[in-house]
Amino acid sequence: MMYKRMAIEKESPEEMGYSNIRYNLAESSVTDFILKDISLGLQDLSLCYTDHRGKPELRELICAGHKNLDKNDVLLTVGAASALFIIASSLLTSADHLIVVHPNYATNIETPRAIGSAISYISLSFENAWQPDIAALEKAVQANTKYISITHPHNPTGMMLSRENLDKIIRIAEQKGIYVLVDETYRELSLTSPYPLAASLSSHAISVSSVSKAYGLPGLRLGWLVTKNEELMEKFLAAKEQIFITNSVLDEEIALQFLLEKERYWKSIKAHIQTNFSLLEKWIQAESRLEWIKPGGGVVCFPRVKDAANFNTERFYDLLLRQYGTMVGPGHWFEMPDHYMRMGYAWPGYEDLAKGLAGISAALDKSFYS
Ligand SMILES: Cc1ncc(COP(=O)(O)O)c(C=O)c1O
Repeated sequence: MMYKRMAIEKESPEEMGYSNIRYNLAESSVTDFILKDISLGLQDLSLCYTDHRGKPELRELICAGHKNLDKNDVLLTVGAASALFIIASSLLTSADHLIVVHPNYATNIETPRAIGSAISYISLSFENAWQPDIAALEKAVQANTKYISITHPHNPTGMMLSRENLDKIIRIAEQKGIYVLVDETYRELSLTSPYPLAASLSSHAISVSSVSKAYGLPGLRLGWLVTKNEELMEKFLAAKEQIFITNSVLDEEIALQFLLEKERYWKSIKAHIQTNFSLLEKWIQAESRLEWIKPGGGVVCFPRVKDAANFNTERFYDLLLRQYGTMVGPGHWFEMPDHYMRMGYAWPGYEDLAKGLAGISAALDKSFYS
């Protein structure tokens, strides 16, 4: 494995130091929970090894209400990140090929690269409203293709596939005898009703998600993958056992107790998302130097500067952080030009979001060559 650090992680807010950022619009999740704000009873918890697939009650909760799925189709992992690693390292060798919808969350690209697999990219463009070209995707399948990798709702753009296109991609995987990995880490943050878990639609689809983004619990490091394919599950379990045997019992227990009460927390999370989104939408409509494709999911958007040729990206990002205390995710985190930027609008409180957006406008004032 040829590991290389990813810009999105190397330059992440936690690596920069949270205390060095006043207005953090670089996160892709809702506000992080503080432990004291969750009602928990943990005194009787045995700090033992636990079920290798993960706490059964938690796995049951994850697939509850999803047709065709039961707890045996769910494997708990250390965040969605390790689920992605388990899948890539179980399915790929350096002789294999995969198709990645691009841009994408960096791990979905970097792990296959570290393995040495060949990759065909299906590029999403602003001009095409970030929608993938399904015919090009089908054409990209080769004899040694193992899977198609998509993130949906999409990071960094917030694009939602039409249900028809999701079904088409799954059909392609079935017909070609390959898999489709649907990174659904933002599924519960769809602005309309979420689609069914992709894994519930076909044994060729693998779903991945976690409690990080929608619930603001990224520090729990609790995620999962879902597949109805028993042979695949056996492989993924073998990988999990070799990497970390089990999840942390503490993380599992906190996630279980939180999800059992999720409706209690969800109402205020949703209200916060909506209030902040309205502010973002108003601001961007009035900000004549930017344009965007309005997102359909996630808590991010990926606008771009209209006059890219006259835009001094280095000056902009430097001023934005140093003078205005504001951080966004620059395009290069996603292998895109830096006149694109990811803005996360639901991690900060309303006031901080307003100040961060004002900071972006102020930095834009000073970042064009005259
Ligand atoms: C699309 C996507 N997948 C997976 C992850 C990893 O999330 P976690 O490991 O915290 O669940 C992220 C984090 O940003 C993401 O954006």
